[in-house]
Amino acid sequence: MAQLLDGKETAREIREELKTRCAVLKGKGVTPGLAVVLVGNDPASAIYVGQKEKACGDVGFSSFRYALPASATEKELLDLIGQLNADTRIHGILVQLPLPKGLSVDRVIGRIDPGKDVDGFHPLNAGRLACGLPGIVPCTPKGVMRILERYAIPLEGRNAVVVGRSNIVGKPMAHLLLGANMTVTICHSRTPDLGAETRRADLIIVAAGRPGIVDGSMVKEGAVVVDVGIHRTAEGIVGDVKFEDVAEKASWITPVPGGVGPLTIAMLLENTLELAERAGRKE
Ligand code: GUN
Repeated sequence: MAQLLDGKETAREIREELKTRCAVLKGKGVTPGLAVVLVGNDPASAIYVGQKEKACGDVGFSSFRYALPASATEKELLDLIGQLNADTRIHGILVQLPLPKGLSVDRVIGRIDPGKDVDGFHPLNAGRLACGLPGIVPCTPKGVMRILERYAIPLEGRNAVVVGRSNIVGKPMAHLLLGANMTVTICHSRTPDLGAETRRADLIIVAAGRPGIVDGSMVKEGAVVVDVGIHRTAEGIVGDVKFEDVAEKASWITPVPGGVGPLTIAMLLENTLELAERAGRKE
């Protein structure tokens, strides 16, 4: 039976450290500020944005919410980002994804000042990660690395399989695992035999956005399984992994909820603080 990788507790410890760092920065006259931009009325996005704002308040950061209607034009959104780029109270800018149809994610992300790109989604920051250079790293994969580190999961020389190839999780995750000297395979919707790939893995990261896509038959005995998925279903909140089934095979597993989710938020705070510290050094 697997042991739990406890994201909630790990995130709590990180937030305590951040409170101290935030107090030091405030002593120098800088309050970390995060701008959160929400376009349209996707209910899940509204919940996530609320959680992010609350987390900012809890560690002493300022947060600024900008809500635009689903009918907003791309120009309106780009102009808003331009204003936020110029606003010295704001150190991090987060545009909640997905965006309503008709708005180009690439153009919107491309407009964010790379020095305020708290998600690490700007091509400059994504490129730095791919090159192994230091920079702002996307929150979810960064949180996954942090929990693996906390539980001293051995990575070097082992096989990792990442299920999902999004710019938000799958691709940056693969780069981070490669940086930790793992042999990395990225699987996706066109992978012909997903189970054949995952059964070879010592570490499986599932970020496919499909409930229950990984079951016990697809997991090697003793593997470590990290579930990035979160879905509200009639049976409650579930992940991309069939938890009960996979927990019988895995050595370690993240629960949903209480696994990766709290870490994503903790890493958002950490990235905001890092950007504020950088800005503080420039002043
Ligand atoms: N939508 C789902 N995950 C994320 C994230 O990490 N950042 C942003 N901006 N939007 C998201």
